[in-house]
Amino acid sequence: MEINKLERYWLIAVGITLGAFVAATIVAVTVFGIRLPAPVERIDPQRLDQTIFAKPGVRKIADNRYEAVIVAKSWAFDAGPEAGNPAVLRFPRGSQVTFYVTSKDVMHGFQIEKHTLNLELVPGQVARASATFNRPGTYHIICNHYCGAGHQVMYGVIIVE
Ligand code: CUA
Repeated sequence: MEINKLERYWLIAVGITLGAFVAATIVAVTVFGIRLPAPVERIDPQRLDQTIFAKPGVRKIADNRYEAVIVAKSWAFDAGPEAGNPAVLRFPRGSQVTFYVTSKDVMHGFQIEKHTLNLELVPGQVARASATFNRPGTYHIICNHYCGAGHQVMYGVIIVE
Protein backbone atom coordinates (compact mmCIF):
# COMPACT_ATOMS: atom_id res chain seq x y z
CA MET A 1 0.00 0.00 0.00
CA GLU A 2 1.29 3.40 -0.99
CA ILE A 3 1.30 6.09 1.75
CA ASN A 4 1.60 9.67 0.66
CA LYS A 5 4.82 11.33 1.86
CA LEU A 6 3.04 14.12 3.76
CA GLU A 7 0.66 11.61 5.31
CA ARG A 8 3.65 9.58 6.51
CA TYR A 9 5.18 12.68 8.16
CA TRP A 10 1.93 13.34 10.01
CA LEU A 11 1.72 9.72 11.13
CA ILE A 12 5.26 9.97 12.49
CA ALA A 13 4.48 13.30 14.21
CA VAL A 14 1.37 11.79 15.83
CA GLY A 15 3.38 8.74 16.94
CA ILE A 16 6.09 10.94 18.53
CA THR A 17 3.46 13.10 20.29
CA LEU A 18 1.60 10.10 21.70
CA GLY A 19 4.91 8.54 22.76
CA ALA A 20 5.83 11.78 24.58
CA PHE A 21 2.46 11.79 26.41
CA VAL A 22 2.86 8.16 27.51
CA ALA A 23 6.46 8.86 28.61
CA ALA A 24 5.34 11.95 30.58
CA THR A 25 2.64 9.89 32.33
CA ILE A 26 5.15 7.17 33.25
CA VAL A 27 7.64 9.77 34.56
CA ALA A 28 4.87 11.53 36.56
CA VAL A 29 3.86 8.26 38.25
CA THR A 30 7.32 6.70 38.81
CA VAL A 31 9.65 9.69 39.31
CA PHE A 32 7.34 12.32 40.85
CA GLY A 33 4.92 9.92 42.54
CA ILE A 34 1.87 11.82 41.30
CA ARG A 35 -1.36 9.95 41.88
CA LEU A 36 -4.98 10.83 41.35
CA PRO A 37 -6.78 10.99 44.68
CA ALA A 38 -8.93 7.89 44.96
CA PRO A 39 -11.74 7.07 47.37
CA VAL A 40 -10.18 5.17 50.25
CA GLU A 41 -13.24 3.73 51.88
CA ARG A 42 -17.01 3.85 51.77
CA ILE A 43 -18.92 4.85 54.88
CA ASP A 44 -22.47 5.72 55.81
CA PRO A 45 -22.71 9.55 55.89
CA GLN A 46 -25.61 9.24 58.37
CA ARG A 47 -23.40 7.33 60.81
CA LEU A 48 -20.17 9.30 60.93
CA ASP A 49 -20.24 8.88 64.72
CA GLN A 50 -19.21 5.25 64.16
CA THR A 51 -16.14 6.15 62.08
CA ILE A 52 -12.88 8.09 62.49
CA PHE A 53 -15.00 11.17 61.70
CA ALA A 54 -16.71 10.94 65.09
CA LYS A 55 -13.83 13.03 66.46
CA PRO A 56 -12.46 15.34 63.80
CA GLY A 57 -9.13 16.97 64.55
CA VAL A 58 -5.40 16.97 64.00
CA ARG A 59 -3.04 14.54 65.60
CA LYS A 60 0.70 14.16 65.44
CA ILE A 61 1.80 10.71 64.29
CA ALA A 62 5.58 11.24 64.09
CA ASP A 63 8.15 14.00 63.83
CA ASN A 64 6.77 16.52 61.35
CA ARG A 65 3.97 14.16 60.36
CA TYR A 66 0.33 14.79 61.11
CA GLU A 67 -3.07 13.35 60.37
CA ALA A 68 -6.01 15.68 59.94
CA VAL A 69 -9.54 14.27 60.06
CA ILE A 70 -12.04 16.75 58.69
CA VAL A 71 -15.80 16.65 58.10
CA ALA A 72 -17.23 18.95 55.46
CA LYS A 73 -20.80 20.05 55.97
CA SER A 74 -23.00 22.90 54.86
CA TRP A 75 -21.17 25.26 55.27
CA ALA A 76 -18.00 24.62 57.20
CA PHE A 77 -15.03 22.35 57.54
CA ASP A 78 -15.21 20.72 60.97
CA ALA A 79 -11.71 19.94 62.21
CA GLY A 80 -12.68 19.57 65.86
CA PRO A 81 -13.39 22.00 68.70
CA GLU A 82 -9.74 23.05 69.02
CA ALA A 83 -9.67 24.27 65.43
CA GLY A 84 -12.80 26.38 65.87
CA ASN A 85 -15.14 27.67 63.19
CA PRO A 86 -13.96 28.57 60.61
CA ALA A 87 -11.36 25.89 61.29
CA VAL A 88 -7.79 27.10 61.77
CA LEU A 89 -5.08 24.44 61.60
CA ARG A 90 -1.49 25.19 62.58
CA PHE A 91 1.51 23.19 61.45
CA PRO A 92 5.22 23.76 61.84
CA ARG A 93 7.12 24.40 58.63
CA GLY A 94 8.13 21.19 56.84
CA SER A 95 5.14 19.22 58.10
CA GLN A 96 3.70 16.44 56.03
CA VAL A 97 -0.02 16.20 56.63
CA THR A 98 -2.33 13.42 55.53
CA PHE A 99 -5.91 14.62 55.25
CA TYR A 100 -8.88 12.30 55.70
CA VAL A 101 -11.95 14.18 54.60
CA THR A 102 -15.56 13.33 53.98
CA SER A 103 -18.87 15.12 53.56
CA LYS A 104 -21.85 14.50 55.79
CA ASP A 105 -24.46 16.09 53.52
CA VAL A 106 -23.90 17.21 49.93
CA MET A 107 -20.90 17.30 47.61
CA HIS A 108 -18.19 19.74 48.66
CA GLY A 109 -14.70 20.57 47.46
CA PHE A 110 -11.47 20.66 49.43
CA GLN A 111 -8.69 22.66 47.84
CA ILE A 112 -5.66 24.02 49.63
CA GLU A 113 -4.48 27.33 48.28
CA LYS A 114 -1.02 27.28 46.65
CA HIS A 115 -0.68 23.53 47.06
CA THR A 116 -1.48 20.69 44.69
CA LEU A 117 -4.24 19.25 46.83
CA ASN A 118 -7.75 19.31 45.45
CA LEU A 119 -10.31 16.76 46.57
CA GLU A 120 -13.91 16.15 45.60
CA LEU A 121 -15.90 15.26 48.70
CA VAL A 122 -18.74 12.88 48.04
CA PRO A 123 -21.05 11.86 50.90
CA GLY A 124 -20.28 8.25 51.76
CA GLN A 125 -16.71 8.34 50.50
CA VAL A 126 -13.52 8.98 52.42
CA ALA A 127 -11.01 11.08 50.50
CA ARG A 128 -7.35 10.93 51.50
CA ALA A 129 -4.39 12.94 50.29
CA SER A 130 -1.15 14.32 51.68
CA ALA A 131 0.46 17.71 51.43
CA THR A 132 3.81 19.02 52.60
CA PHE A 133 3.97 22.55 53.94
CA ASN A 134 7.47 23.92 53.38
CA ARG A 135 6.72 27.64 53.14
CA PRO A 136 5.50 29.57 56.17
CA GLY A 137 2.30 31.43 55.49
CA THR A 138 -1.46 31.37 55.63
CA TYR A 139 -3.29 29.18 53.16
CA HIS A 140 -7.01 28.88 52.76
CA ILE A 141 -8.89 25.64 52.46
CA ILE A 142 -11.53 26.39 49.89
CA CYS A 143 -14.74 24.60 49.04
CA ASN A 144 -14.54 24.76 45.26
CA HIS A 145 -17.71 22.82 44.57
CA TYR A 146 -20.98 24.75 44.62
CA CYS A 147 -22.87 23.40 47.64
CA GLY A 148 -25.74 25.77 48.30
CA ALA A 149 -26.55 29.16 49.79
CA GLY A 150 -23.49 29.32 52.07
CA HIS A 151 -20.95 27.98 49.58
CA GLN A 152 -19.01 31.24 49.39
CA VAL A 153 -18.41 31.35 53.16
CA MET A 154 -17.22 27.75 53.42
CA TYR A 155 -13.51 27.82 54.10
CA GLY A 156 -10.80 26.94 56.57
CA VAL A 157 -7.32 28.23 57.24
CA ILE A 158 -3.95 26.53 57.45
CA ILE A 159 -1.18 28.47 59.15
CA VAL A 160 2.35 27.22 58.57
CA GLU A 161 4.73 28.56 61.21
CU1 CUA B 1 -19.13 23.39 50.35
CU2 CUA B 1 -19.18 24.76 48.37
